Amino acid sequence: MPRISTHTLRKKAQDGEKIVMVTCYDATFARLVDAAGVDAILIGDSLGMVIQGHEHTIPVTLDDVIYHCRAVARGCARPHLVGDLPFGTYQASTDDALRSAARLLKEGCVQSVKLEGGEAVTESVYRMTQAGIPVMGHLGLTPQSVHQFGGYRVQGRTTSAAERLLAEARALQDAGAFSLVLEGVPADLAERVTDTLDIPTIGIGAGPACDGQVLVLYDLLGLDDRFNPKFLKKFDNLQERVVDAVSRFGREVRTGDFPTAHHSH
Ligand code: KIV
Repeated sequence: MPRISTHTLRKKAQDGEKIVMVTCYDATFARLVDAAGVDAILIGDSLGMVIQGHEHTIPVTLDDVIYHCRAVARGCARPHLVGDLPFGTYQASTDDALRSAARLLKEGCVQSVKLEGGEAVTESVYRMTQAGIPVMGHLGLTPQSVHQFGGYRVQGRTTSAAERLLAEARALQDAGAFSLVLEGVPADLAERVTDTLDIPTIGIGAGPACDGQVLVLYDLLGLDDRFNPKFLKKFDNLQERVVDAVSRFGREVRTGDFPTAHHSH
């Protein structure tokens, strides 16, 4: 079965079918989310926090993302794969952006790339799409700008900020973006953007009107009890289940109940 393409994602949105995307970073989970029927996997720079233990996404390198893209690509054959361009790999020039995006496709084996920002990146989006690289935009609470925002704050709350975001969304579409992530914006603004654009919007903390939704897999599985933002629904409590399973393993090792003859050669 061929991988889901940008055209299929767009068609789904046109047909009123919601797009389901998750962020994941390795082959084992990629296989499982594929079995669960997701449409797209984002190999996000959130790996800086989730996998590497940083406070922000800023330290993540292009090599880090490529490493995880390759792992995810080996783990699943059907979902569309989006590789995230990390901070500093596309902002300096359109040449940088093009080179970094090309590496994600060539070495990371993804089918498209995502980058954060509006007007500042539209020229790069145009050049990448002209070069045959599908681009997903990302507006709103763009985590690579955390220091400029002074924290992880909902964006687009004032009338002028909302109008600016709407204009940037249009500019990204005009530059050739095939889709747009809306993160941390009021639900009514996300609805306006979604109604205005022809390309699908994918929301995270952006209300129900978007054409699709994305969550980080580790978050939706409930693997971190310290992370409880308002937008997050935990569909399981794996943190408790993992601690319980490993505790039982430890107990049985210590008591000698594991391994038994059954688990021995
Ligand atoms: O890096 C990431 O996982 C993301 C999503 C949360 C949109 O950018």
